[in-house]
Amino acid sequence: MDVVTGAFGYIGKYIAKALLGRGREVRTITTHLNKPNPFGPAVQAFSYSFDDPHRLTQALEGADTLYNTYWIRFPFDGQTYESALTNTRTLFQCAREAKVKRIVHIGVTQASVNSPLPYYRGKALQEVMLRESGVPSSIVRPTLVFGKEDILVNNIAWVIRTCPVFPIFGSGLYRVQPVFVEDLAEIAVQQSTASPGTTVDAIGPETFTFEQLVRVMADKLGRKIKILRVPPAIGIFCGQVLGLFLRDVLLTRNELEGLMSELLTSPQPPNAPTRFSDWLKENNSTVGRHYSSEVARHFRWSAP
Ligand SMILES: NC(=O)c1ccc[n+]([C@@H]2O[C@H](COP(=O)([O-])OP(=O)(O)OC[C@H]3O[C@@H](n4cnc5c(N)ncnc54)[C@H](OP(=O)(O)O)[C@@H]3O)[C@@H](O)[C@H]2O)c1
Repeated sequence: MDVVTGAFGYIGKYIAKALLGRGREVRTITTHLNKPNPFGPAVQAFSYSFDDPHRLTQALEGADTLYNTYWIRFPFDGQTYESALTNTRTLFQCAREAKVKRIVHIGVTQASVNSPLPYYRGKALQEVMLRESGVPSSIVRPTLVFGKEDILVNNIAWVIRTCPVFPIFGSGLYRVQPVFVEDLAEIAVQQSTASPGTTVDAIGPETFTFEQLVRVMADKLGRKIKILRVPPAIGIFCGQVLGLFLRDVLLTRNELEGLMSELLTSPQPPNAPTRFSDWLKENNSTVGRHYSSEVARHFRWSAP
């Protein structure tokens, strides 16, 4: 039996699917116990009871591997990077108490404790806590992850579909190496039997500058767009104003600076086969049809 955090969310869902496909029994730990369970009785759900470590430990008991996806994109609704780190430490300590044999942790490329960006620094501190937990572990650090439920790629497509002008922040020459969510899930599952202590990046086969990415998307969606270069500070401000109307946080300074500093790339050779451009061609009728809201997904969701 394995435990996957957030199996009703994005990356966690594909890890759970990959495990079920291998005949594994799967449990999930989630903030959304009442969300529709796409796996039915095959995946039993437990809550992230950080305030009750005994309960959290019980949810982890009997697990061979804990696949950890837990993190927050931005501080919101009283949750901060500091509280997310405290929760991460609790989760790893409970895994140790529960005698979980292995933790496979989803990090991010170029996470560093010296990063000036709290998102990336926090992701690096999660890795430090993982090592301190004493549980044998592996770390998988993806670049930008694309797939049906991805918010960033979907919303770039939504802007391309909705608006004749696409704002690009700064030069647009900064690179990305998108990795497919199902490839990432495979790499994560393979890590459960690799030697412990390994850290591997998950990298797609294509590299684009951000402007190329937008142009490829417009091309595959059959849209003609005009690129408008916008200074990053003005872009963030406009994003905040639009966010008020959409009741969402569109793009944070962390994310933009990370993107512009090419943190979502890796010096390692690509190790995931699916090409973003091929996937887009296959999914061009659905991607970006509707705006995807991070805040709605995590904080305004309620059972129908
Ligand atoms: N998406 C990417 O492009 C990308 C790139 C590099 C690294 N990553 C890393 O991959 C991991 C999974 O991310 P994801 O893209 O799959 O997003 P996600 O579906 O939002 O997953 C985030 C995880 O954290 C949990 N969580 C608890 N409280 C949360 C909150 N307030 N806000 C957001 N999540 C909360 C989620 O559980 P519930 O779903 O049960 O709420 C889920 O387990 C994260 O550690 C992230 O840093 C993602």
